[in-house]
Amino acid sequence: MFGKVKPPVALKSPPTVPPGVPGKSVLGPRPAEDPTGPPKPAPPRATETASKPTVEKSRAGKPIDEKLEKYYALKTRIHRKLVEQLDLTAVDNNDPGIRDKVGELVLALCEKEDVLLNHTERQRLVGEILDETFGLGPLEILLKDPAISDILINGPRMVYVERKGRLELTDVQFRDNAHLIHVIDKIVSAVGRRCDEVCPMVDARLKDGSRVNAVIPPLALDGPSMSIRRFGADPITWEDYVNFKSCAPQMVEFFRACVIAHLNILIIGGTGSGKTTLLNNMSSFIPPSDRIVTIEDAAELRLRQPHVVRLETRPANIEGKGHISIRDLLINSLRMRPDRIVVGECRGAETLDMLQAMNTGHDGSLTTLHANSTRDAVQRVETMVMMSGFELPVRAIRQQFSSAIQLIVQAQRLTGGPRKITSVTEVTGMEGDVVTMQDIFKFEQVGIDSAGKAYGRMMGTGIRPTFLDRLKYSGCNIGPEMFEAQVLLSDHEG
Ligand SMILES: Nc1ncnc2c1ncn2[C@@H]1O[C@H](COP(=O)(O)OP(=O)(O)OP(=O)(O)O)[C@@H](O)[C@H]1O
Ligand SMILES: [Mg+2]
Repeated sequence: MFGKVKPPVALKSPPTVPPGVPGKSVLGPRPAEDPTGPPKPAPPRATETASKPTVEKSRAGKPIDEKLEKYYALKTRIHRKLVEQLDLTAVDNNDPGIRDKVGELVLALCEKEDVLLNHTERQRLVGEILDETFGLGPLEILLKDPAISDILINGPRMVYVERKGRLELTDVQFRDNAHLIHVIDKIVSAVGRRCDEVCPMVDARLKDGSRVNAVIPPLALDGPSMSIRRFGADPITWEDYVNFKSCAPQMVEFFRACVIAHLNILIIGGTGSGKTTLLNNMSSFIPPSDRIVTIEDAAELRLRQPHVVRLETRPANIEGKGHISIRDLLINSLRMRPDRIVVGECRGAETLDMLQAMNTGHDGSLTTLHANSTRDAVQRVETMVMMSGFELPVRAIRQQFSSAIQLIVQAQRLTGGPRKITSVTEVTGMEGDVVTMQDIFKFEQVGIDSAGKAYGRMMGTGIRPTFLDRLKYSGCNIGPEMFEAQVLLSDHEG
């Protein structure tokens, strides 16, 4: 059952304290989650200094109290014993009953300990040790919560989450730096990457597709830091966009037509504004018959179409070799006969290649860019192209931009948390040296409600896109009434 089981354990040894007996507990108030730490005192791959508890004294959060220290020690002890009893590497994780079986063993080990634990405390201890053994330790409880969109860890004592667009500090903690590094190691090694002195900064992803970034000392000064972007089991759909009032139903119809008609679409927005979520949803309109190539740093997109080739960049190896960039993948993808190219984000040398691909037959492609307005997007593209060493005059870059991109859709996270599509803009061409654009839909913020949340209304600007005929020829009948100057939806003041 457990693979290579070492000397059998007495699962039914008499309990030290009968279940439910109240006693002087080592636990006190509920401690932070899961400080058990690595199953063996295997040295973490990061620097020695990283594992020293310097951070406890630093600004990185609350100091550990004595009760908690005892609790951690107890958990570590039991976990070590578990490792001694079992060959955890040989445990069959696919066995549906395996958690229960190991749980029984942990309970038996718990009962042999000379400490008083009541029934609830014991159950909690067992749960936490199981999370440590089969999952990501203290993170497990957060990963199970579908309302959490971001998990941000600044050293072992400060774990923040974002719920409904707001950041909150949780009481989840790691035992120390070494424990946190162990969890980071577990995550990154599962996708064939590493995080150590040589490579102290890494991108990875969880099994469910959540994006992970980790930075450890010496680059991170207050202990290892990890940022997890959750997409959860239920990613946001167009239905959610409409229910959350992130956009009007008419706009969804419009986007569908634009994607089907092979318009090149650029999604812009700030950090965490919802660009990738929007890209994923836009991509869902690509017909299943099209061959799609997706290119990302950490594969976040989840396309449902059958004909998708997913490509992911690769960091350099220990000798600094073998780095494969977005640009490398993009250039390669052009030889893969794609009908559509979807690039997770343009942030460097790949930008010009993307514009060129869009201009030379790979229309219907989609990408995102970090920019806070449509004008800003043009400037960002100019800067990125120039910084990549291409000696092109600004006017030529703008020309490339204006002929490559037909639609810019802006995502924004507004004050108080709501995420909205705040502008839908057509790129119409150039006048002199200036890229000309016209807004088709626009969100107007009216104010901030009593809960501190921005509210407003989504407007049709009264301007019809010039590519309306193109939509019609691709079989999407979008009536002109959609583009009248009107309020498409209104937030209620909360
Ligand atoms: N319209 C929306 N309503 C509510 N939540 C949303 C909406 N769009 C995105 N989110 C949530 O916001 C978070 C950030 O979204 P996303 O990763 O798409 O942003 P991003 O702009 O790509 O971020 P980054 O700049 O870090 O790549 C995710 O957890 C996502 O589920
Ligand atoms: Mg993103």
